Amino acid sequence: MAQLTIKDLEDSPQVRTALAEILIEVVAAGASVHFMHPLKQEDADAFWDSALAAAARGERIILGAWDGSLLVGTVTLQLHCPPNQPHRGEIAKMMTRLSHRGRGIGTVLLRAAEDLAVRHRRNLLVLDTARDGGASAFYERQGYRLAGEIPDYALRPHGALTATMIYWKRIAETSPEKVKS
Ligand SMILES: CC(C)(COP(=O)(O)OP(=O)(O)OC[C@H]1O[C@@H](n2cnc3c(N)ncnc32)[C@H](O)[C@@H]1OP(=O)(O)O)[C@@H](O)C(=O)NCCC(=O)NCCS
Repeated sequence: MAQLTIKDLEDSPQVRTALAEILIEVVAAGASVHFMHPLKQEDADAFWDSALAAAARGERIILGAWDGSLLVGTVTLQLHCPPNQPHRGEIAKMMTRLSHRGRGIGTVLLRAAEDLAVRHRRNLLVLDTARDGGASAFYERQGYRLAGEIPDYALRPHGALTATMIYWKRIAETSPEKVKS
């Protein structure tokens, strides 16, 4: 692997195509990331069009991990939360290409997203992952704590129902005064 570079992704045909490729690949491999297999190219493109537009509005940050010119992983930090939760963020669409798994890319992306969340004055992150075929062990290694599990929450990409596991992590100290200021 060439040197890994982590960057904020901005809309361009190259970025959209690469993000859609990863999404289609991980869904086909059974990842629960809101879509069913087979995921059509136009649906993947439409999802990233809308996500990149939200990023351009500052409502989320989409990070990419590049191995040279190849996008090998991505994670989204959702910043757009209700007015009474200005201190919270969400982690979503955490994905590493199959060819690049187990090399620490997911860990580097998640830490970069957490650093950005702190810079955006967030001190609490939440996420959910499927019980079957999800990434609960990965998140637990990174210090996320299990809040609970909801049975039969979603269909897996190939059809079976799975529970979802809700996780949270405090990434900075908080107080009502700090949250409001
Ligand atoms: C979760 C995911 C992004 C991790 O990516 P990665 O680049 O392989 O992660 P890392 O290499 O940093 O892994 C760190 C450690 O977590 C472990 N790990 C990684 N993915 C895991 C998973 N899905 N379940 C359990 N453990 C996992 C690795 O084995 C590694 O352990 P090690 O340090 O003993 O070698 C990747 O497995 C993926 O894309 N999964 C499909 C999409 C998905 O389910 N995303 C989560 C939706 S919320």
